[in-house]
Amino acid sequence: MKTSKRLEGIGEYYFSQKLREIDELNKMGKQVINLGIGNPDMPPHPDVLTVLREESLKPSVHGYQSYKGSPVLRKAISDWYQRWYHVALDPATEILPLIGSKEGIMHICMTYLDKGDEVLVPDPGYPTYTSAVKLAGGKAVSYSLKAKNNYAPDFDRLSKKSLKKVKLMFVNYPQMPTGQLPDMDLFRRIVAFGREHNILIVHDNPYSFILNENPMSLLQVDDARECVLELNSLSKSHNMAGWRVGMLCGAQKKIDEVMRFKSNMDSGMFLPVQLAAAKALSLGKEWHDELNKMYGERREKVFDLLKQLGCTFDRHQAGLFVWARVPGNVKDGYHLSDDVLYNAGVFITPGGIFGKAGEKYVRVSLCSPVETLQAAMDRVASQESVKASS
Ligand SMILES: Cc1ncc(COP(=O)(O)O)c(C=O)c1O
Repeated sequence: MKTSKRLEGIGEYYFSQKLREIDELNKMGKQVINLGIGNPDMPPHPDVLTVLREESLKPSVHGYQSYKGSPVLRKAISDWYQRWYHVALDPATEILPLIGSKEGIMHICMTYLDKGDEVLVPDPGYPTYTSAVKLAGGKAVSYSLKAKNNYAPDFDRLSKKSLKKVKLMFVNYPQMPTGQLPDMDLFRRIVAFGREHNILIVHDNPYSFILNENPMSLLQVDDARECVLELNSLSKSHNMAGWRVGMLCGAQKKIDEVMRFKSNMDSGMFLPVQLAAAKALSLGKEWHDELNKMYGERREKVFDLLKQLGCTFDRHQAGLFVWARVPGNVKDGYHLSDDVLYNAGVFITPGGIFGKAGEKYVRVSLCSPVETLQAAMDRVASQESVKASS
């Protein structure tokens, strides 16, 4: 049976392919140290697990849930936005709980795109934006983010293009993979661009709490709701990636529009998961401080590893990764990644999978303990060919 046309040009997600290769190497006894994926390795707060356990023992919680999510979770999301981002959201109408930010990306594309519609996607950026646009029948048009512009979109350049067919623009700050933090000026310019060109801006915001003292929301910009939808997630900020809890926030009309699609795809999440997620969102600054202390220590080790590999980087990065430029004598990030994988048994992500602008870079995850990072350094130190490229 032939697969559908919409799957043409959609490869298997890079990591699922690479993980299979790493599995093969492990079967051969390599015991690869995987510094690729941003999958938090620590558990959620114990109070979150208590709520999940206690709620799931109740007989009445196992049925279908409302498509719009439990009012308890929507209220918790609204309180969270108010407390951390100083953004007021109506829990009844301006919030839609999601099974992670990733599903929201697809739902938004399916809700707004017809064949021929164009979507601006960041290069480098999260590959799912491009795949979701293609799967929905749209055309992804990449805009490059350059280190010399602090990884901000070049709005002057974009404004000179024909934007008539552009319906959506994906933005994501703190930016993955570059770790670039936003500031209010950048956020205002993004919203002004969306408003001027009648483009719906989709801000994907899952990293605002990681190695960042000042979490920001694009909805903080005055009247942003006219042209902004924001995705957010508990995956990274609360160590709940496997739980699949995220959210979409914005004006009621747009939330209702996305709901029209989503309600045909799935039902509300398991109630105890929603109630435990609400608990997680109520955690105080101590939780985030503790997490960030750990990631800060790991980041220092990752800086050491990258120095060992001869890479250069900006120390001021947010999120779960460090983004670094490969040394001048190495062709690109794919070469460095393969060299480190095959010779030292350490996997780091080649920046090229995030787009052409990322080809000279690698991305290293902070989701391994300091001891593992040290073990990776020891392996690199003992491998001649890796050392030779540094
Ligand atoms: C930029 C970006 N957006 C979204 C996601 C997916 O987040 P979630 O777990 O909420 O689906 C990721 C995960 O790696 C990501 O890096």
